[in-house]
Amino acid sequence: MTLSLKDRLDASATLTEARLAAALSGTPEAGERLRPERLMAAMRHGTLAGGKRLRPFLVIESAALFGVPAAQAVTAAAAVECIHCYSLVHDDLPAMDDDDLRRGRPTVHKAYDEATAILVGDALNTLAFDLLAGEDTHPDPKVRIALVRALARAAGVGGMVGGQMLDLAAEGRFSDGTPLPLSEDAIRDLQAMKTGALLAVSVEAGAILGGADASERAALLAYGRALGAAFQIADDILDVEGTAEEVGKKVGKDAAAGKGTLVSRLGLDAARALLARLVEDAAAALSPFGARGAALKEAARFVADRRS
Ligand code: IPE
Ligand code: IPE
Ligand code: MG
Ligand code: MG
Ligand code: MG
Repeated sequence: MTLSLKDRLDASATLTEARLAAALSGTPEAGERLRPERLMAAMRHGTLAGGKRLRPFLVIESAALFGVPAAQAVTAAAAVECIHCYSLVHDDLPAMDDDDLRRGRPTVHKAYDEATAILVGDALNTLAFDLLAGEDTHPDPKVRIALVRALARAAGVGGMVGGQMLDLAAEGRFSDGTPLPLSEDAIRDLQAMKTGALLAVSVEAGAILGGADASERAALLAYGRALGAAFQIADDILDVEGTAEEVGKKVGKDAAAGKGTLVSRLGLDAARALLARLVEDAAAALSPFGARGAALKEAARFVADRRS
């Protein structure tokens, strides 16, 4: 039986949410003294309600290409989702994008307070690596170390965090307040870092878990990079064309903040054309996997066509 993309997304989301809920229980783990209740509640608010769970899906489906069962891949999937949720909680802070709505609910700093939201991000960041280091991620410690390194690189200064820095710099935050006139290449670098890196490492994690060879790993990485670029362009288009009801967050913010996006740089039509090209590139990168790559191929189209 072949499952539809929606069924596959739902299945990986359900598994991941159960893994996250277990990791976010109030019971201290070995070596912990206690888990502050308010912090745990705020972490659950930022992690367990809503979200497409696209990154966990990518970890689980790319691992499945190599015969890794979802129940094995889910811990790494949950780790990547922890980093993603932390990035959203911090992205929404008043000092960053200053947003009140996320996944159709008040952002963590609105539902709780700013200091708690900062600590939620900090704790989700360390939880991600705690999860990866554990034996249920993979029995081989070398595989676990490779995952830790890959996720750290994708999340850190040369990845998501660095991209967020470039994103704020592009608004003119650290200069005279005038948005910087970034080239298309500079915007692509910024977006490959702030968004692309976590999406690309999701498929890379599947390859690491599955013991992929160098060429399979390169193919998946090419897919992940094209998908990551497509994903952020779709997000930027939705910021112009979507509604808050559809996307579960405020829209029209990028132009107001003077964000460096490919929509602002190229215009909507050219951005849409680039998005379509990136979806084709993503699909083409999967050709070494033949029919086994069908779900990931479909996911690339989903990313481009999504309304939320
Ligand atoms: C939103 O990511 C932030 C970006 C990287 C553009 P998602 O659109 O994947 O957010 P959720 O997880 O579904 O809420
Ligand atoms: C967010 O990009 C990227 C990260 C959180 C790392 P955006 O600022 O465009 O995401 P949204 O639109 O707030 O979800
Ligand atoms: Mg942002
Ligand atoms: Mg934002
Ligand atoms: Mg956005």
